[in-house]
Amino acid sequence: MINYPHSELLKSLPKQFFASLTAKVGKKLEQGYDVINLGQGNPDLPTPEHIVKSLQSAAENPQNHKYSPFQGFPYLKRAAADFYKREYDVELNPETEVAILFGGKAGLVEIPQCLLNPGDSILVPDPGYPDYWSGVALAKAKMVTMPLREENNFLPLYSELTADQLNSAKLMFLNYPNNPTGAVANMDFFQETVEVSRNHGICIVHDFAYGGIGFDSKKPVSFLQAEGAKEVGIEIYTLSKTFNMAGWRVGFAAGNASVIAALNLLQDHLYVSLFGAVQEAAAAALSGPQECVHELNSIYESRRNTFISGLQEIGWEVKAPKGSFFAWLRVPERFTSEEFADCLLDKAHIAVAPGIGFGDFGEGYVRVGLLTSEERLKEAVDRIKKLNLF
Ligand SMILES: Cc1ncc(COP(=O)(O)O)c(C=O)c1O
Repeated sequence: MINYPHSELLKSLPKQFFASLTAKVGKKLEQGYDVINLGQGNPDLPTPEHIVKSLQSAAENPQNHKYSPFQGFPYLKRAAADFYKREYDVELNPETEVAILFGGKAGLVEIPQCLLNPGDSILVPDPGYPDYWSGVALAKAKMVTMPLREENNFLPLYSELTADQLNSAKLMFLNYPNNPTGAVANMDFFQETVEVSRNHGICIVHDFAYGGIGFDSKKPVSFLQAEGAKEVGIEIYTLSKTFNMAGWRVGFAAGNASVIAALNLLQDHLYVSLFGAVQEAAAAALSGPQECVHELNSIYESRRNTFISGLQEIGWEVKAPKGSFFAWLRVPERFTSEEFADCLLDKAHIAVAPGIGFGDFGEGYVRVGLLTSEERLKEAVDRIKKLNLF
C-alpha cells in the first residue's frame, strides 16, 4: 500500500482529546468491568415513535429515492420557521432565513469557512464544544478564547476582551444551554451580545443544540428572541437532542439572510441534500405533538435531581445544571481534571470527561452526561461514596 501523506490542512486539525478517553473505557470493558459511561454526549433514549413511523412511510415513497432538491425541501424550511414562531415567537422567512443542515455539527464547522479568510479571528468560548476548533482550523482562522467562569455563571465577560480582540473578530460562537457547563443564558445577555455585535461587526453564531432541555420550569431562551438578533447573526438548531435524533443527522440554521445564503452556497458544493425521508420525518418532529419533548425534559430533570442530590449527600459540593444534559462538577483540589477522571475510571469504573478537554478554563472540573437511567446514576453515586474522597 502506498502511504499517501496527508495535506497540511488535515495535519492542522486539532487532536481528538476524547479519543484517549474512549480507548481507556474500551480497555476497561474488554477487561470485563461494568463501566458506567457518563463521559459522552450521546442521547440514550429512542426517537419518539411518531417520528420513526413518519420515516418508515416516507422511505417507501419513490419520490424520496431521487436526489432531494438542493438546499432541502421547502416544506422542511417552512416547518422550521413555524417551529420558531410557535416556540419562540420569532418570525423567519423560510426561503431566505433557514438553511437545512446535516446536523448542527456540519453547520458549525462550515460557518468559519463561509465567512472567514485565513488569519481572521473568531471568538470561541472556553470551556467549549471542541468541534468549534475544527471549523476554525479548516478556515485557517485564528481562535481567540473567551473564558467562561463560574463566578459569572459561565457567560463570557465582554468587558474582559481587548478593543483589538473585539475589533478584529469576525465571528463569535456562543452556546446556551451550554456544553459542557450546563449553564443557561438570559435575554439581557443576548441583548448585550447584539450590541457587541453591532459595535464591532462580529457575526454571532448561537449554537442552540440544547434548546429543548431546560430545568426548573424555565424554557431556554433563543438568541433570535433578542431584538435585532436576526440582523447580526444566526442560531443553529439540531433535532439530535430535542427529539433524540442524534443518528439521523438533521438540523437547521436560522437568522441573518446573508449568512444563510453563504451556508447554502457552500453546501451546494459539498452535498445535494438530506435523504427526503429524513426531511419528512424532521418536519413531523418539528410540527407534530411536542409531549415527547416535555417528557424527555422531565426525565433529564429527574436524573439531574437524583444524581446531584446523591453527590451532595456524600459530601461532594456540586451545583445543579440549569439546562442541557450535562453536569459540570468541580473536582477536589488535589486532583487535576484528568487525574480525577482516571481515578473514577480506575477505582469506580465510572467514565467522565475531564474538563481540560474542553479548554484551559475547563481545568478543575469534570463533565458528566446524565445519559443513563436513574438506577445507574444512583449506582454511580454509591461507587463514588465508597472511594471516600469527600
Ligand atoms: C454544543 C453542541 N453543539 C452541537 C452539537 C452537534 O450536534 P449534532 O451535530 O448532532 O446536531 C453537539 C453535540 O453533541 C453539542 O454538544
